[in-house]
Amino acid sequence: MGLVRFGVSLDKELLEKFDRLIERKNYTNRSEAFRDLIRKELVKKEWEEDADVVGTITIVYDHHQRELVNKLMDIQHDHGKNIISTQHIHIDHHNCMEIIAIRGSAREAQRLADTLKAVRGVKHATLGMSSTGRCIV
Ligand code: NI
Repeated sequence: MGLVRFGVSLDKELLEKFDRLIERKNYTNRSEAFRDLIRKELVKKEWEEDADVVGTITIVYDHHQRELVNKLMDIQHDHGKNIISTQHIHIDHHNCMEIIAIRGSAREAQRLADTLKAVRGVKHATLGMSSTGRCIV
């Protein structure tokens, strides 16, 4: 892998803000922070262009609602080809968290997340948009 150096012209105030930001995020230097910003944009582009992606859907719900549990199970079975694994965590007497590892086209991943999120009784749902790593260095 060849390393290329290039100069960046930046407003002084903007650079100061950037430096404060990367210090808070524990970057050791500007280059690594800059590389991460580029990677973040490349992953965002993968999702926007419906590339093959991986990610996680995290949902929190009350397992005492049996109908809700069955519904979530049905949805996951219907999307079996997009689901790599599901981890179930019993948070307390009522609440469960499920972390669902997914893969497929960005559109399929988004649709599955939206479908789970929309089930009545799901308290919280997030979609972690990640990358297969093939499009980023
Ligand atoms: Ni549970």
